[in-house]
Amino acid sequence: MQRSFILLKPDCVQRRLMGQVISRFEQKGLNFVAMKMLQITPDLAKQHYAEHVEKAWYPTLEGFITGGPVVAAVVEGLEAIQVVRDMLGATSGLKASAGTIRGDFSSSRQMNLVHGSDGPEAAEREIALYFNDEELCGYEPTITPWLRAADED
Ligand code: CDP
Ligand code: MG
Repeated sequence: MQRSFILLKPDCVQRRLMGQVISRFEQKGLNFVAMKMLQITPDLAKQHYAEHVEKAWYPTLEGFITGGPVVAAVVEGLEAIQVVRDMLGATSGLKASAGTIRGDFSSSRQMNLVHGSDGPEAAEREIALYFNDEELCGYEPTITPWLRAADED
């Protein structure tokens, strides 16, 4: 069982796509174990996107990601990190395959609606950046026996 951090970016909130995006993850079988709305500060943006702070395009990314409320969440499931990345599609909505969230809803390299952790280290770091332990609500969904066989883990 693995946890991944997802962030519904300001374009997702403003375009009223939160429900559709959350539904896709739920329909896939991922389990939401934490969620909150917040406004990202420039300081938090620099921590979240530490690997990109020196890039030429970082200032416009910071303006975008701090420009409206976001929804931070943690999802849980088998291979959740890769499953979420595959569901998001390529970074640019113009390059992302049809059927992915970015491919279906975004026509932008920057305004690509949803962030997802790119590996186990990033997931751990990002979950800790947005949530404390008491905010993580792990539980066993009663539907699990109808999502996969008992020996699949
Ligand atoms: O989100 P992902 O891991 O697919 O892409 P990234 O290369 O790690 O970039 C992080 C985020 O920066 C992207 O999701 C875009 O929102 C933004 N970005 C941008 O504004 N301009 C670029 N040239 C590349 C990425
Ligand atoms: Mg990335």
